[in-house]
Amino acid sequence: MRDRVCLITGGSSGIGRETARGLARLGATVVIVGRSEARCQSAIAQISTETGNANLSFIPADMSVQTDVRRLAAEFTSRHSRLHVLINNAGGLFMNGQVSADGIEMTLALNHLGGYLLTRLLLPVLKASAPSRVLVVSSVAHLGMRINFGGADQPAVETLRFGKWNGYARSKLANILFTYELARRLEGAGVTVNALHPGLAASGFGMNNSGLFPWAKPVIDLFAISSEEGARTSVHVASSPELEGVTGKYFVKCRETRSSSASYDTHAATRLWDLSASMTGLDTLEKTQ
Ligand SMILES: NC(=O)c1ccc[n+]([C@@H]2O[C@H](COP(=O)([O-])OP(=O)(O)OC[C@H]3O[C@@H](n4cnc5c(N)ncnc54)[C@H](OP(=O)(O)O)[C@@H]3O)[C@@H](O)[C@H]2O)c1
Repeated sequence: MRDRVCLITGGSSGIGRETARGLARLGATVVIVGRSEARCQSAIAQISTETGNANLSFIPADMSVQTDVRRLAAEFTSRHSRLHVLINNAGGLFMNGQVSADGIEMTLALNHLGGYLLTRLLLPVLKASAPSRVLVVSSVAHLGMRINFGGADQPAVETLRFGKWNGYARSKLANILFTYELARRLEGAGVTVNALHPGLAASGFGMNNSGLFPWAKPVIDLFAISSEEGARTSVHVASSPELEGVTGKYFVKCRETRSSSASYDTHAATRLWDLSASMTGLDTLEKTQ
C-alpha cells in the first residue's frame, strides 16, 4: 500500500482506528476523520509510534453535518491530489430520537447521507486516482429489512425515517443499496465499490445512548471479536490485490457473500439515490452541470 492514499471516516476509535492501523502497517498514507481533534490526534500518534509510519494525518469533521462533509472534501483535496481508498466507516446507533444539525434524523444523517455526500464529492479525485476503491461498512443487521419509501400520499423524506434499532438496520441496508448503485454507475471508471460486515466487534458502538443498550453492551461484548479482528475485512477489501476490479459485492469475514434479497432491488436503489441527492443538495448541482 506504499504510495496509496486512504481516507477513513470514524478512524479515531473502534473498527475505524484498527483499519487505519492495519493500512498504516502496510505502508499506506492514511487520513482519518472524527469529530474530536484530540481523539484523532491521539489515534494517529499511537498508530505512528506502533507502525513507524509517519504518513498519518486527520481532518476533524462531523459526518452528520453536511457543511462539515463539504469542508472535509475540500480540505482533503486541497492537501492530497490522489485518493486510492475511501472507507465510509463512521456510523452509530441512535435510540433516543436524535436529530442532526441539519434537522435530519441522526441515523439517516450519519450512517447513510454523510458517506453518500462525501463519496460523491470525492468521485473526481477517486476517478483521477484509478484504480481506486470505495468501501462502505454495513452490517448483517440489514438482513430482513426493507426501506419504506411510503405511498404516493406520503412525502418520501418523512417515511424514510430511521432511528432506533430497526432504523439502524435499515441504514445498513441503505449502505448496501448505495454500494451496488454506485458500482453500477462507475462501471468502467476504474473505481470499485464494495460493502462489508465487520463482525460483531467490541468497540464504543452504541455507548452514546441512554437506556438499556449501554448496560447490555458489556454482556454483548462477551460474544464479540476485538475491534482489531473487526477491521480485518475492511483492510482486506481495501488492500487485497486479488480484489482489483471486483466491484458491487458484499464481504463478510474477508469472503464475498450474498447480501439480503432486498439489497439487490435496483428500483429501491435508484429511488434511494435520487432521494439522497435531493437531501444533500446534489440534485441542484446535477441540474446546473
Ligand atoms: N461494532 C460492531 O459490532 C459493528 C457491527 C457491524 C457493523 N458495524 C459498523 O462499523 C462501523 C464502525 O463502528 P464501531 O463499532 O467502530 O463504532 P465506534 O467504536 O462507536 O466508533 C465510531 C467511530 O466513528 C466516529 N464518529 C462517530 N460519530 C461521528 C460523526 N458524527 N462524525 C464523524 N465521525 C463520527 C467516532 O469518532 P468520534 O467520536 O471521535 O467522532 C469513532 O471513530 C459503523 O458503521 C457500524 O455501524 C459495527
